[in-house]
Amino acid sequence: MLSPDLLDRLRSLIGAAHVLTEADAIAPFAQDQRQIQQSHPVAVLKPGTVEEVAAIVTLARENALPLIPQGGNTGLVGGTVAVAGTGAILLNLSRLNRIRDLDAADYTVTVEAGCILAEIQQAASGADRYFPLSLGAEGSCMLGGNLSTNAGGILTLRYGNARDLVLGLEVVLPDGRVWNGLRRLRKDNTGYDLKHLFLGAEGTLGIITAATLKLYPKPRRVETALVGLDSPAAAVALLAQARSGTGDMLSAFELMPRFAIDGARELLGRDHDPLPTRCPWYVLLEVASGLDGTIVRDMLEGILGDALEQGLVMDAVLAESEDQRRRLWLIREGLPEIGRAVRGSVHTDVSVPISRIPDFLSTVMANLEAYMPGIRPYPFGHVGDGNIHCNVARPAAMATEDFKPHADAITAIIHEQVLAEGGSISAEHGIGNRKVAEMALAKDPVELDLMRQVKALLDPTGIMNPGKVLE
Ligand code: FAD
Ligand code: LAC
Ligand code: ZN
Repeated sequence: MLSPDLLDRLRSLIGAAHVLTEADAIAPFAQDQRQIQQSHPVAVLKPGTVEEVAAIVTLARENALPLIPQGGNTGLVGGTVAVAGTGAILLNLSRLNRIRDLDAADYTVTVEAGCILAEIQQAASGADRYFPLSLGAEGSCMLGGNLSTNAGGILTLRYGNARDLVLGLEVVLPDGRVWNGLRRLRKDNTGYDLKHLFLGAEGTLGIITAATLKLYPKPRRVETALVGLDSPAAAVALLAQARSGTGDMLSAFELMPRFAIDGARELLGRDHDPLPTRCPWYVLLEVASGLDGTIVRDMLEGILGDALEQGLVMDAVLAESEDQRRRLWLIREGLPEIGRAVRGSVHTDVSVPISRIPDFLSTVMANLEAYMPGIRPYPFGHVGDGNIHCNVARPAAMATEDFKPHADAITAIIHEQVLAEGGSISAEHGIGNRKVAEMALAKDPVELDLMRQVKALLDPTGIMNPGKVLE
């Protein structure tokens, strides 16, 4: 509990209406997106300016109050969970939601941390520009969360992770100082590039309050295809052909198992099976170009025609309209929903070198079947980045409650193979508090030691999101 004196001081800093302490008021911010953990913040603070954020941090530092920054709370690894008894406070950035500046000539936009990702995309589009970070949660996740998790998503293949889209940052440091690093330079080799410490730090080193982001020319033509294949190996081979065949204009390349279509019909009531051929695997791919005209479509038809002739592809359909394109994407976007609806599934976020995906998947699927006959792995995701959500549903005949105790063992089977392949146990979602214990397995001891030293240097009293990323 916060003392009455501290509460009064917080109220005078940011206004009583923005200091939430009642259980009902706190509840919407204290949900774990995965619904695995309980979160018990003692208060939710909603500052409206950078100065207010800095004043809160200074007060927290003086009084050893743990602070957990929060954006849209769509993170999947418990990064905003407040553990009961720790006295942790949620610092919700949603009121810092201004687009400060959009410079079309410079292809940059400077945005506050509480801006919703979709609103940044729209602002860019309104200026005939393109902000190419895109993920299923884009209607509710916020820039500060995107940058702090170094989010990936469906366009990483072409445009990179969140960190690759940042030119400058503004950060409130754990000592209350504000670092104004909002440069918009494409080239700046004046020593250490400190912004990268905060990108992907999951709120453990400071609070990102704004960023200057790169914009791109808006694509004029986007062509979308759903392709059926017999194996992940065929998908990886098609990826290589599509990248070179389009002159690297491929922007998305998402692998899905048949479960995406059957699961959507059985669990979500969506009966949409676009290809006449029933295929074990599918790829949803997109090619985008700044050039208008039919050149992109001609190119894609050529690539898919060749792949059909080679027997690499079983069947394929190209979207004929924006509506059809949306319907194809709904199959992909349904997979996280299927994961919830199946009531009994394990979710992972791993990466391996792209060429190792086929062997990795066949070994993991065999190991899972040996562990639990009838188990239903449904690996999907961003093959173009080597990033697979190697998710697993309970056997159809097994009760949810009987499956749940196996979650850790199933995760361990997958992660063991990931590490054997030189992969990562967190490709794009981060560590949060869910994967902290596995850091010792996943990281080089020297690297972990350096991370701890950086943390101790910037946040010596440990107020910033304690228990996340590092133990
Ligand atoms: P939050 O959940 O609020 O916070 C995430 C972490 O960042 C926490 O550790 C928090 O403390 C910290 N943080 C938040 N704001 C700040 C700040 N201003 N300063 C410092 N630290 C801060 N992720 C992907 O990478 N790719 C995907 O394709 C993808 N798809 C998703 C689909 C769905 C349906 C859902 C629910 C999630 C998906 N995610 C995906 C995960 C999630 O959306 C992203 O991690 C997103 O970037 C989190 O943003 P947020 O604002 O919700 O952050
Ligand atoms: C996705 C999320 C789970 O790719 O990262 O759908
Ligand atoms: Zn993903």
